[in-house]
Amino acid sequence: MVKASRAFVCQACGAVTTRWSGKCASCGEWNSIIEEAAPSGSPGLIAIKGGKGRLAPLETLAAATSEAPRLPTGIAELDRVLGGGLVPGSAVLVAGEPGIGKSTLLLQAAAELAGSGARVVYLSGEEAPAQIRMRAARLGLSAAPVALGTETNLANLVATLGSAPAPALIVIDSVQTLWSEGVEAAPGTISQLRGCASVLIGHAKGSGSALILVGHVTKDGQIAGPKVIEHMVDTVLSFEGLSGHQFRILRAVKNRFGPTDEIGVFEMREDGLKEVENPSALFLSDRDQGAPGTAVFAGMEGTRPLLVEIQALVAPSSLGTPRRAVVGWDPSRLAMLLAVLEARCGVRLGAHDVYLNVAGGLRLNEPAADLAAAAALVSSMSANPAPEDTVYFGEVSLTGAVRAVGHMDQRLKEAAKLGFGSAVLPAAAADEGRKTKMMRLIPLSQLDELVALFCTSRA
Ligand code: TYD
Ligand code: MG
Repeated sequence: MVKASRAFVCQACGAVTTRWSGKCASCGEWNSIIEEAAPSGSPGLIAIKGGKGRLAPLETLAAATSEAPRLPTGIAELDRVLGGGLVPGSAVLVAGEPGIGKSTLLLQAAAELAGSGARVVYLSGEEAPAQIRMRAARLGLSAAPVALGTETNLANLVATLGSAPAPALIVIDSVQTLWSEGVEAAPGTISQLRGCASVLIGHAKGSGSALILVGHVTKDGQIAGPKVIEHMVDTVLSFEGLSGHQFRILRAVKNRFGPTDEIGVFEMREDGLKEVENPSALFLSDRDQGAPGTAVFAGMEGTRPLLVEIQALVAPSSLGTPRRAVVGWDPSRLAMLLAVLEARCGVRLGAHDVYLNVAGGLRLNEPAADLAAAAALVSSMSANPAPEDTVYFGEVSLTGAVRAVGHMDQRLKEAAKLGFGSAVLPAAAADEGRKTKMMRLIPLSQLDELVALFCTSRA
């Protein structure tokens, strides 16, 4: 007799091991490994049962194809991130932490689309119809002809969707609540998630409906992360927010039908998510222009550009060991930068307290932030404000050299889009940047040139 095989699957990254352990060896997540039945056959519950396969047609690359038609949702920021609207028959995964506003955004999109005459089905496994109605009332969308459902069983869902004309849009909130009898694992596990998502995606492709799957990103691995279905869907949008702030960023992490360097910015208000047409106004709105100790960093968040303000305060210390406090950046990186400023540029900071803060509650992980942090520090130290229309980026090495960083083009494009006129950047990359011809470039090869910028421009 064949013993049903078991496998231990990490709910965060999908790695399969033969034994349980507290920490996943492949992604480092703690407590994320759960015992599941080993998948038999393909995760899509489809196996070839006997018989011969049918011959599949093979085509040439040159054959004429028409551009994928688009279904605009009516929410411009969402359409932009999607690359011009939803593509019929495609699957979109909207991932984000619980409470970030995924249901709100999708209910707004569903209502917009339904209002324009398209058939929209919104299936929620997390909330009762009364709760969804309450949200709709709060958003002022009660009149929208959206078909609501709360089914979570996959077979019932597919039967429901197949019984009426195919909707233009199907929203599943969330994909982690779905379960199928065909998968021998608890709801919320990787096997269930993969199996259910694959069936629904197949259904959408067959019926021509656009499918939006909501996926919760959780840190504790109690439910399988949406990362494990990213490869199945056409588009992955990540919905992010900064703690304590009302703004939300929608980014395309993957898009088979459009670019991935667009971001959509929303503001969470009492009456729902409002589109922010000019994100610079939001991110840099509280900027103390003209005050010394701040510099704008043209950074990359994952694969996307994002401008943030770095603030520094350098003040004479009354302590034997001066204080170094940093929020939003690596303290050891700050220590290194201070040492380089002292040893290579002659900036004496040994008797000063140093505070560094990344505005907006963002956390920066990029070495490219070195130059902007150095600019904020030197600006504070010299009491000389950095020029208001300048962005900074570049990595600083221990020798004091300013080294090239990636994504030059995207950083400069974003800065130009947000109204900045000049960029202080690594000399090694300036040639590449010149191709963009959008900004005045100030190339640096050594960190002491940055110090000189602040000392000589002081009138
Ligand atoms: P929700 O869309 O339920 O988040 P998710 O589906 O990603 O879990 O929204 C959660 C938060 O948004 C909730 O804490 C309340 C807030 N909110 C507003 O501030 N204004 C609104 O109009 C709505 C509907 C929600
Ligand atoms: Mg929700």
